[in-house]
Amino acid sequence: MKKIQSIRGMNDILPHETPIWQHVENTLREVVTNYGYEEIRFPILEHTELFTRTIGEATDIVEKEMYTFLDRNNESLTMRPEGTACCVRAGIQQGLLYNQTQRLWYMGPMFRYERPQKGRFRQFHQFGVETFGFKGPDIDAELLLMSANFWQSLNINQKVTLQINSLGNSTSRAYYRKQLVDYLTANLSLLDADSQKRLQTNPLRILDSKNPDMQEIINNAPMLLDCLDEESKTHFDSLRKLLDAANLPYEVNTKLVRGLDYYSFTVFEWVTKELGAQSAICAGGRYDSLVEEMGGKSTPACGFALGLERLVALAYDNNKNQITHIPHAYLVMFGENAEIAGFNLAKKLRQSIPDLHIIVNCGGGNPGNQLKRADKSNAKIALILGENELKENSVTIKYLREDKPQTEIKIAELTNFLQSHL
Ligand code: HAM
Repeated sequence: MKKIQSIRGMNDILPHETPIWQHVENTLREVVTNYGYEEIRFPILEHTELFTRTIGEATDIVEKEMYTFLDRNNESLTMRPEGTACCVRAGIQQGLLYNQTQRLWYMGPMFRYERPQKGRFRQFHQFGVETFGFKGPDIDAELLLMSANFWQSLNINQKVTLQINSLGNSTSRAYYRKQLVDYLTANLSLLDADSQKRLQTNPLRILDSKNPDMQEIINNAPMLLDCLDEESKTHFDSLRKLLDAANLPYEVNTKLVRGLDYYSFTVFEWVTKELGAQSAICAGGRYDSLVEEMGGKSTPACGFALGLERLVALAYDNNKNQITHIPHAYLVMFGENAEIAGFNLAKKLRQSIPDLHIIVNCGGGNPGNQLKRADKSNAKIALILGENELKENSVTIKYLREDKPQTEIKIAELTNFLQSHL
């Protein structure tokens, strides 16, 4: 019979890979908790309209990447391609945003029908952070410094660099859009087909084109930063002052526009050279109009999301030593009486030493087999319980990773032994 395979671009994360995932997830969770961020969880499925209205009709995500289907009630539903829209929906619906400030984080799978390649998947995982109710650039700076703290804690700060830009407020953007469209229209014959299409729908995204033939026209295009009005300029300059004062290096990338429509003012990306074409590991910015556009009261907002697959790939080399899974002990039992006593012994040890990491042999086996399994489990020691030990009320300790002779100790002393030796 033909074996059923997983869906292309949707990966299993295997037992030997989960320790690094857990290490990365725990580190991120710890850092954001220390900054006062609280977790929010929202559904994976939402009404399609949530994403078309927020991310934008003329974006790659909405035009060609969403997993959308009709449910049994003929409602159009979409597997979330990102978390910001969901978070804003939940915030408005649950009354979290009105006259309040919020610092929130979330983690989980996102879905985009992209062409799978290294670092790009159809089911991928994001760790995201969204803040609400903070208008000034101080929160933008907090988010950037907090993300820098992630890289520091994961030992990868040498592998990533920060790019920032400002898209300004809607007045600046409308002014810039006109300048850009005029310039590109005057050079229409030099635009590739994709950019000609975008000229009508989403001209700013043309700046993001990776087509080498388009680079000259893009490099000579008017710059958004030159079109910022006073309010937008002040916001960006104040952010830069805060980052400079905190000694956080960054590059101003005037072509950074982001692929989702809801941004205004600050946008940013942390990029790496280590993952080939998929260089962005963390990206975000301000979206001050989104809450109001979705029916809430006008609320300034700023956030980012990082791609966990990319971060795990980057963090693996520098963290693998800390994360190998090492059980303290593996309990080996010979004979039916020993098996019964062994289960009871493990239960008592787990109660008296809550952190104890002990694996109990299951599935029987001769002494050689059981000790092989003990060795394969990575455990530091084997606790051996046979008929002799039962009679003596003791266990034999066999050191699996050290060159020490095995010893026998009384069961009454085992808790103390484990606590002091492991
Ligand atoms: P985004 O740039 O679309 O922004 O995604 C953020 C990060 O998710 C990317 O930098 C990348 O690391 C990861 N990512 C995106 N697509 C894939 C994929 N197909 N496979 C693997 N990783 C991927 C957002 O999603 C915004 N919601 C970020 C945000 C939050 N802005 C404000 N708040």
